[in-house]
Amino acid sequence: MGQKRLGVGFIGAGFIAQFHIRSWVGVRDADIMGITSLSMEESEEAAALARKLNVGEARAYRTITDMVADPSIDAIWMCAPNYTRIENMEEIVRALEDGKGELIGVACEKPLGRNAAEARKMVELVKKAGLLDGYLEDQIFGYPVMRGKDIIWSRGAALTGRPYLARAAEEHGGPHMPWFWEGSLQGGGVINDMMCHSFETARFLLTPPGEKRSFLTPVKVSAYANCLKWQEPRYIKELSAMSGGKLDYARRPAEDFGRGLIEYRDPEGKMVVVEATTSWCFVGAGLRLSMELLGPEYSMSINSLDQGLKVFFSRRVSGETGEDLVEKQNAEVGLMPVVSDEAGEYGYTEENRHMVQSFLAGRRPMENFDDGLNVTELLMTAYMSVEQEKTIPFPPPGLDAYVPDVARGKWNPKNK
Ligand SMILES: NC(=O)c1ccc[n+]([C@@H]2O[C@H](COP(=O)([O-])OP(=O)(O)OC[C@H]3O[C@@H](n4cnc5c(N)ncnc54)[C@H](O)[C@@H]3O)[C@@H](O)[C@H]2O)c1
Repeated sequence: MGQKRLGVGFIGAGFIAQFHIRSWVGVRDADIMGITSLSMEESEEAAALARKLNVGEARAYRTITDMVADPSIDAIWMCAPNYTRIENMEEIVRALEDGKGELIGVACEKPLGRNAAEARKMVELVKKAGLLDGYLEDQIFGYPVMRGKDIIWSRGAALTGRPYLARAAEEHGGPHMPWFWEGSLQGGGVINDMMCHSFETARFLLTPPGEKRSFLTPVKVSAYANCLKWQEPRYIKELSAMSGGKLDYARRPAEDFGRGLIEYRDPEGKMVVVEATTSWCFVGAGLRLSMELLGPEYSMSINSLDQGLKVFFSRRVSGETGEDLVEKQNAEVGLMPVVSDEAGEYGYTEENRHMVQSFLAGRRPMENFDDGLNVTELLMTAYMSVEQEKTIPFPPPGLDAYVPDVARGKWNPKNK
């Protein structure tokens, strides 16, 4: 019998850490006890949010080591930027090896690494430390995704045959912090940032309930990328201004549009297809997630902006800009959809429940670092396909050492 309650500490106090904290009102048997980030002020603010929501007596810690050393912390949620993954994980492992504290598990935000070598290193480090590992791919835990998958497989697929095509798209107007836009820091552009979700969600929908990811074998990958909006002169200026002159999309852009296609084989030899599109150049009400699952006699579809709740504000309602209606909101007037439970709809609530219950039971989560590594390998193969303008058999040679041109500041569609 494992322990009954889990004390959780967060590395990172930014956008995603706060989303997780808000989701925690729907999570049982765990308390948010600690936050550490680059700034004590930010950590204090996030800790205060956790206390205000009554989801744990969180306090701010100066370092990861201090947080691991506190006996009230049993598990760590890694929510700092992509370029800090390895150093953060190494600090956790060092603290454990030095006997500073004890942990049950670690859950890590997407992507597991900026490239395959980093993701593999994360797998090695977590194994070396003997920890349980969860990969935080929220979208497979979204209410419509889980419910839709259940219904399609138990009715349509059971009677008429398995689904053969899954489509997934994630689109918004562009990330909220400069580091996401810099290929070297983030690992790529929108493909690395968002196609990780779409590839994994589509794969999940095509996998029979209860089966592991190894049920489907990736056979080949093809992809396309471009920078459609953010290399226009006025948007180059906008990015430069938002980053204090650091971002240079004239010379060092990242892709703001990507399309990827993966062909998988199931154990019976049937081919099934994942089609994903992602963009940072979609201007609609806000973040739009869309998914489809198609089979011989059925289909399902999800559109996160197609909500029951809509509000209308006339042009006389000219208040502050905000993200109170929907993530990455673009407007405050006119007819606006409202995602009333974003944490549940995008999957954070069920994701965190699953991770907590798995850690408490001493069980490896169903979505773990091996899955994060495989997603990264597929994304890297997609970048190879973009660069070589051809379909790439999976796994390609040289995958482990490969770093996309975008991440090396060497990609520019304008130079073609
Ligand atoms: N699942 C999703 O849909 C989703 C959405 C957004 C972000 N993310 C992922 O979450 C991670 C964080 O993204 P974000 O949007 O919260 O970023 P952010 O820039 O808003 O916040 C980053 C936080 O990390 C802290 N930080 C920076 N360097 C650190 C270090 N070396 N050690 C400890 N803390 C450090 C910062 O102080 C800040 O609190 C990224 O990996 C991102 O890809 C996932």
